Amino acid sequence: MGKQRVLSGVQPTGNLHLGNYFGAIGNWVKGQSEYENYLFVADLHAITAPHDPTKLASDTYTLAALYLACGLDLQHSTIFVQSHVSAHSELTWLLNCITPLNWLEDMIQFKEKAVKQGENVSVGLLDYPVLMTSDILLYQADKVPVGEDQKQHLELTRDIAARFNHLFAKPDQPVLKLPDPLIRKEGARVMSLADGTRKMSKSDPSDLSRINLLDSPEQIQYKIKRCKTDPIRGLTFDDPERPECNNLLTLYMLFAGKSKEEVAAECQDMGWGQFKPLLMETTIAALQPIQEKYQAITEDKGYLDSVLRDGREKAQAIANQTLADVKAALGYYLPV
Ligand code: TYM
Repeated sequence: MGKQRVLSGVQPTGNLHLGNYFGAIGNWVKGQSEYENYLFVADLHAITAPHDPTKLASDTYTLAALYLACGLDLQHSTIFVQSHVSAHSELTWLLNCITPLNWLEDMIQFKEKAVKQGENVSVGLLDYPVLMTSDILLYQADKVPVGEDQKQHLELTRDIAARFNHLFAKPDQPVLKLPDPLIRKEGARVMSLADGTRKMSKSDPSDLSRINLLDSPEQIQYKIKRCKTDPIRGLTFDDPERPECNNLLTLYMLFAGKSKEEVAAECQDMGWGQFKPLLMETTIAALQPIQEKYQAITEDKGYLDSVLRDGREKAQAIANQTLADVKAALGYYLPV
């Protein structure tokens, strides 16, 4: 039997931060040799909130370069840009027409983001999860590695696929595969440096709330020095009264590659004055090779362009086949 297929993506909006790394990209890299991976830059999703057209292309390019810099290996992974494969938009239209409106109105992220956008909320924001569903179903993905915040969108994906199969496929010949989310326990929800009860987010107006993968050592030191802590000595995981402490220990654990027990024992008697320099040092050392690789990749623009061209071709071959199967199941008069 061939390898199972993995599909995932990140939006090219703002800087890539530690939440994106530990919730998504780091896990793609870790598991990549076990799977056949399709990883894309979600630039169609990036315009569901007001965006800057002068930055969309360069943000897309930066994110694709970061995928490689984080360690994606082209032997196992196909990297491409969502808008370069038009089947994503086309399948979204077809699935829109079989998705009940109230399924979308119930999405937590829609409700949260809609409040922020006020009266300017677009149809695209409401439709965002159907586009995400199309991304996944086009590749007949088995597994979708994401952070905790995408769980509800994955449930919707399964519901839409099941509904499509029920309405339009023969019972023993499903057209669309139901994917499973792959959400790792540690790092699935990295919290803000400014408030341990809120998730680290690209859209937080304060850059001090997150560490970005391309932050300089000085920025990392400054952010960790300024981050929110508490007045208690002795650092512990899992104390609901100490969300910042849990988050910072988790970041240290993930960067240092140590077990939870090891970190708990190492830090149990520490104060913040001792722990913060340790976290700074570990974070800077872990990000340095990613940043160096990023510099090298971006020095040769032609290389990344060729990676994305190859990726597009491979992605199109699979996506177009699924799209044709969906159209046939819906009863379209297909071109000959
Ligand atoms: P996006 O760009 O908001 O986030 C990219 C990935 O990072 C994860 N993530 C986090 N994980 C842990 N802690 C955090 N604080 C944190 N913040 C973000 C997200 O869960 C995600 O895995 N809709 C998606 C992009 C997308 C997609 C897809 C993903 C489009 N189509 C198909 C998978 C499959 C998004 O906006 O992610």
